[in-house]
Amino acid sequence: MTFDAAQIQAAELREYLTYHNHRYYVLDDPEISDAQYDRAMRQLLDLEQEYPQLKTPDSPTQRVGAPPLAAFVSASHEMPMLSLDNAFDDLELAEFDARVKRFLDTTATIEYVAEPKLDGLAVELVFVDGRLQMGSTRGDGVNGENITQNIKTIRAIPLQLSGAHIPPRVDVRGEVIMRRDAFAALNAQREINDEPLFANPRNAAAGSLRQLDSTITASRRLDMYCYGIGRVDGIDAKTHWELLGKLKQLGLKINPLIEICPGPAAVRDYFQRMGQRREQLPYEIDGIVVKVNRMDWQQQLGQKSRSPRWAIACKFPAQQEVTQIEAIDVQVGRTGAITPVAKMTPVQVGGVQVSRATLHNIDEITRKDVRVGDWVVIQRAGDVIPEVVKVIESRRNGRETPFEMPALCPVCDAAIVRFEGESAHRCPNLSCPAQLKERIKHFATKRAMDIDGLGGKIINQLVDKKLIHDVADLFLLDVETLAGMDRMAQKSARNTVTAIQESKLRGLARLIFALGIRFIGEHTARLLVEALGCFENIRNASFEELSAIDGVGPQMAESVRRFFESPQNQALLSRMQSVGVRFDIDTSGDGGVLAGQIFLFTGTLQTMPRSEAQKQVEAFGGRAVNSISRKVDWVVVGADAGSKAEKARQLDLKIITEADFFKMIKK
Ligand code: IVH
Repeated sequence: MTFDAAQIQAAELREYLTYHNHRYYVLDDPEISDAQYDRAMRQLLDLEQEYPQLKTPDSPTQRVGAPPLAAFVSASHEMPMLSLDNAFDDLELAEFDARVKRFLDTTATIEYVAEPKLDGLAVELVFVDGRLQMGSTRGDGVNGENITQNIKTIRAIPLQLSGAHIPPRVDVRGEVIMRRDAFAALNAQREINDEPLFANPRNAAAGSLRQLDSTITASRRLDMYCYGIGRVDGIDAKTHWELLGKLKQLGLKINPLIEICPGPAAVRDYFQRMGQRREQLPYEIDGIVVKVNRMDWQQQLGQKSRSPRWAIACKFPAQQEVTQIEAIDVQVGRTGAITPVAKMTPVQVGGVQVSRATLHNIDEITRKDVRVGDWVVIQRAGDVIPEVVKVIESRRNGRETPFEMPALCPVCDAAIVRFEGESAHRCPNLSCPAQLKERIKHFATKRAMDIDGLGGKIINQLVDKKLIHDVADLFLLDVETLAGMDRMAQKSARNTVTAIQESKLRGLARLIFALGIRFIGEHTARLLVEALGCFENIRNASFEELSAIDGVGPQMAESVRRFFESPQNQALLSRMQSVGVRFDIDTSGDGGVLAGQIFLFTGTLQTMPRSEAQKQVEAFGGRAVNSISRKVDWVVVGADAGSKAEKARQLDLKIITEADFFKMIKK
């Protein structure tokens, strides 16, 4: 390719990726598949590697992270980032409203804007002539840290503002958050890696943003909502509501739950509603923020030393409670790790009854000095099970008993071991039913084989009744057997069997992850598939080959090698193959049987809807498009095909039937 052609193509790809990034991460309304997006990204990366001069600071490729920094540089905010006063009940909210009126010397009803108070980290983004110039933390309000490299990895943040009226300069403020699903996935991965878990999404977001190595930030799924501005030049808004509308026009992400409240009564109503919805929201909020809508009034109200007079935070009641520990049990996890769990007198925490809390491991128990009989402060955070924050020592009566790790596994009676350098005790018995249940649950989860309907309760019963002994047995389950389980109607049994059978086609990367090899999370599973190409290569790879892969450390390499060396695992894998689990489907991009090939479906298909056929194409590494052009490799023609089939003939494209297509994927 000539440089000129590369330049044109790079510009096109950048525009394509920026547009679809915005659809996906800001509007939450994607138009193309993840695989299509990834392929375009790879093309652009390739082009930029070949012609480094094509790289621009706002190229979507810049989101993957940059070389690590030695330390963060301080960054000052042109206008201080203030904090907020709190109102803890209706009375304090009423006092706020009264104060506002008094200060403005008006009897008019004040219009407010009410927003969810996101529990994340405040940041400032500086856009000069539309281009993201700097991102910084709040710090002490005057000076924060320059975290631009990390900010750029967050997909919800535009690298370049869009729209007809780009202001010469705007400092945008908002909250960087981690959604509950991303938080749960991150902690699940950390558990696999034996890394300490984050206590809540806020800490996870903060820890992710304050990485000197921005490639780590890039691997964390962070999000951001904007809720205000600092210094601004070229945006004129009479109200806060209008300002938010303009920010949205510029491509910035604004929380759709923000509302105008005509007066304090509407604010109270909003507070109630958000309190009720709180648990269902995909991210954590700890209250609402109420802002005077009129900008001239905001100006007039001004600020006190650290907080504005025109805004207030209304906090929800705390998610912490006090209760007593009745016993400390242990639970056996998927890798045999033994987790001590406190059984407590049930107590309501933020509207949910809590009776168990994790104590993580023996070191944690020792550090917090938790004993049976202790009164403790517990808290709920995110989707993780509640945890013990601290012991209330003043309530001890001397009859509390320290915890001792049992010598035998409570489930299978194997002697518990603790390996050198590990914080966890383990049950070493691979066939321990507790481990087996957890392994099968992991196998079936959404991020692994995604088997709908096969939940924990069903798996427990299947293992207890000795109907399944490993994950391969799942594929032999019939409707009758499943319908015999508690909580399983005939219809759901049928659906579950179908879901199990369909999961055979999930692809190699998911399969490797689903196997539950220690230290191998979703990301590493994908790295293995990308680097080694096929299952045989992964299975046979030596320690050296594995650890040579970028992103695969010695501990992971050793774990993979050990997994495939085990005769028990080898037997399991060949049983999985013989029951029809497909180890030859590569969905990671290249290498699938349809890799690099573009398909167009037209007319009515007999065996499945067109959308499903398109998914199959993607699953096998190909690409499905809707409009016809010379780029299309295969046109699959169903019944009553119209003009597209005609056009395909004119363009002399390869035309095949539905049956031909299924032969290509050997279905
Ligand atoms: S406005 C002068 N709006 O709460 C206005 N803050 O307690 C200051 N926060 O540092 C911020 N959601 O980190 C505002 N919708 C929202 C918010 C919000 C969360 C955080 C922010 C701020 C802290 C103040």
